[in-house]
Amino acid sequence: MDHFLYKDGALHAEDVSLAQIAAQVGTPFYVYSSATLTRHFKLFNEALEGLPHLVCFAMKSNSNQAVIKLLGDLGAGMDVVSGGEYARAKAAGIPGERIVFSGVGKTRAEMRMVLEGGVRQFNVESEPEMEALSAVASELGVEAPITIRINPDVDAKTHEKISTGKYDDKFGIPISRAREVYAMAAKLPGLKVIGIDVHIGSQLTELAPFELAYNKVVELTHQLRADGHTIERLDLGGGLGIPYERSNTAPPLPMEYGALIKKCVGDLDVEVEIEPGRLISGNAGLLVTEVIYLKNGENRDFLIVDAAMNDLIRPAMYGAHHDIVPVVEPAPGVETSTYDIVGPVCESGDTFAKQRTLPPFKSGDLMAFRSAGAYGAVMSSEYNSRPLIPEVLVQGDQYAVIRARPTFDEMINRDTIPEWL
Ligand code: LLP
Repeated sequence: MDHFLYKDGALHAEDVSLAQIAAQVGTPFYVYSSATLTRHFKLFNEALEGLPHLVCFAMKSNSNQAVIKLLGDLGAGMDVVSGGEYARAKAAGIPGERIVFSGVGKTRAEMRMVLEGGVRQFNVESEPEMEALSAVASELGVEAPITIRINPDVDAKTHEKISTGKYDDKFGIPISRAREVYAMAAKLPGLKVIGIDVHIGSQLTELAPFELAYNKVVELTHQLRADGHTIERLDLGGGLGIPYERSNTAPPLPMEYGALIKKCVGDLDVEVEIEPGRLISGNAGLLVTEVIYLKNGENRDFLIVDAAMNDLIRPAMYGAHHDIVPVVEPAPGVETSTYDIVGPVCESGDTFAKQRTLPPFKSGDLMAFRSAGAYGAVMSSEYNSRPLIPEVLVQGDQYAVIRARPTFDEMINRDTIPEWL
């Protein structure tokens, strides 16, 4: 459920009309609903009630300061994967003890920064990373709390570009070698082993792969404890999928996912962390765009809109589907048309949807891409020198621009021309 509904024939984000935002900030823009973000975060919290837990929002899905602050104020931790994300979390007021540092390629500089600023734990992904962290922590005279991310060799049954839990994926340490790697960690100075981490992929639409992976983690917990390690925390990753197509069956709900977690690890006397991103932010955001032209091709009609692949790359990159809705509610029974929805970028891949059946659109009409709050703005670029588009946050009847559209000068002035040119 989200808070983007038609009221009096006009699509609203909570109590604010999208046409009104468009008139003020111009198109295209991202708009997020505070109520939806809050609701989704709370669903996970409630789903894990009864277990000691922390829900760490995967900031890679949406790292705007306002979004982080909103979730942080509700008690969320943050899952960060770079020095930049760590700096964003800290700037939004998230205390170090609620920040988890994930990622396969942490640099020593990032490790230093995070150790100095405070961190809940590092999710370590390889032996060389472990050695580097041991060296950096020892240099600073501190102990780095770590979990080791294991690769359980489980098929997440999702898009191959976002599947992370098979042996052929670059992530984690093969579970077959986990015991020897934990033994190595226990001997290294500057490290404190506290648990196990696993994350098998994103946009999972079934619980079965989670169950397979979590059961492997449970078995490993028993083995590692028998080997003498302290396993007091399990980071079970993110990845629960969202309904991108309203017409399709919906993926499992957070409550069902939480019940699975309780079933698998409820008896282990551990603290549980999860790292959801998409389910919290995805359906909390829309991308609103204006039709520039309706162009009649030989075989098809193109709606050329003012958003492009640089603003929302998911369709071009993963062939992802985003539901498209008009900002003005169509009259009941209106005759539909079939369009290709494309952006202005000079590549045929700049296509949001092919042969989509929609109510009729004409130049100047506004449309919204749904489910764009996750992996939308964060993956955008200035390709074709198109300035990054604004982000707007709505709460009830109020809204604010939470990232402004840069001017052409601001964009251009980041370049410097050397004096010898
Ligand atoms: N934890 C780790 C270690 C991750 O790698 C990810 C996502 C998450 C948590 C959050 O997963 P989520 O709950 O959001 O599914 N750009 C792609 C998605 C990439 C996901 C990468 N890792 C997309 O647009 O579909």
